Amino acid sequence: MTDGIMPLRGKHIIVGVSGGIAAYKAPQLVRLLVKAGAEVTCAVTEHALQFVTELTLETVSQHRVYSLLFDRSNPHSTEHISLKDWGDAMVVAPATANIIGKLANGIADDALSTLLLSFRKPLFLCPAMNTQMLESYAFQRNMDYLRTNGVHIIDSTSGELACGTTGDGRMAEPENIAGEIIRQLQTPADFAGKRILITAGPTYERIDSVRFIGNFSTGKMGFALAEELAQRGAQVFLVTGPTHLSTHHPDIERIDILSAREMYDAVIERFPSCAAAILSAAVADFRPEHEADHKIKKQSDHDDMTLHLVQNPDILATLGKMKRPDQLLVGFALETDNELENAQKKLTKKNLDFIVLNSLHDAGAGFGHDTNKVTLIDRNGHIEPGSLKSKQAVAKDIADKLLSWQ
Ligand code: CTP
Repeated sequence: MTDGIMPLRGKHIIVGVSGGIAAYKAPQLVRLLVKAGAEVTCAVTEHALQFVTELTLETVSQHRVYSLLFDRSNPHSTEHISLKDWGDAMVVAPATANIIGKLANGIADDALSTLLLSFRKPLFLCPAMNTQMLESYAFQRNMDYLRTNGVHIIDSTSGELACGTTGDGRMAEPENIAGEIIRQLQTPADFAGKRILITAGPTYERIDSVRFIGNFSTGKMGFALAEELAQRGAQVFLVTGPTHLSTHHPDIERIDILSAREMYDAVIERFPSCAAAILSAAVADFRPEHEADHKIKKQSDHDDMTLHLVQNPDILATLGKMKRPDQLLVGFALETDNELENAQKKLTKKNLDFIVLNSLHDAGAGFGHDTNKVTLIDRNGHIEPGSLKSKQAVAKDIADKLLSWQ
């Protein structure tokens, strides 16, 4: 057979099964993945074994099923550690509200949840549950959290449910799950061997020991870029201001900073070893001239206060001056008036290869949203307006544009 027919040849996939009725479809998923060329090992919860037997999963996968955290018959007492290294990807099908809740909240109390918590490679979750549970705010919050942290969600569909009702909550069909895994794992490694520097999030400029000047950036765009590029083979430095986001891919080295000057130092040190830099951070242009080492008290005889601000270094402009001919530099622009003209001026002034112009005029675009709408403008004058899409899809467009410039 050719690799075209066996798209997962050489891949190790862990199929996690948690305790829902859709567990009866897990052996079918295992068969499809094996047929596509993958080597598969199953990790199950105790409740999953109420719906599907260990023997069935072992027979279709031709591998031992991992079900006990402390299995004394197994020479690898810490199996979750070795199994996580073995797997190139992991899929949980079905993923109950319980296992999703555990992962989103860092709970590891059985074989599957322990493995999930330590797994750092592409992870797919296939939720299956009744509609009320699916719509609950706790479940939706957990899903949002996992999604923004790089977990692939293969959404449930509408149909007849085991509880006798009809609605959303049916696990996606094994054929669709296998298809999505194949699609994702076939992502070209077109950034292999490249080191890319990304900045993300806000900066905090200290006023005193308890206060700062900041902004509303959440870092979602920069983190999506880091995951996209790492997944396509790049080694990524992610220099980020304070954010609640976490990184997923093992090839992302995260450097946490607080202020613009700390970001400047981290970026300048790393840029010479990088093929490209994408600066998406919302850097504060100004900082308080003096930082008080104590909490500034209210003064009873003054009803106003003046804070003197001084300019921060422009990181992007500095990189524009340092840039070698073999390096690429990408900036972001957030404009409210004469958007295109101002973005183009910024592109020239800061010596960029292209600039990503954020639209502030569309609902769903900009700070905090999971979606964004951008226009890519390059130094040759090409202008590519985009539509409103997920930040992951925008990250893909930016990565593709970067590639076309190499
Ligand atoms: N940027 C930077 N360092 C700064 C300020 C901005 O690296 N001190 C980068 C941002 O990460 C972004 C780009 O510069 O990639 C554009 O930032 P923006 O604030 O829109 O532009 P400014 O140059 O600050 O210009 P203005 O405030 O006049 O729009």
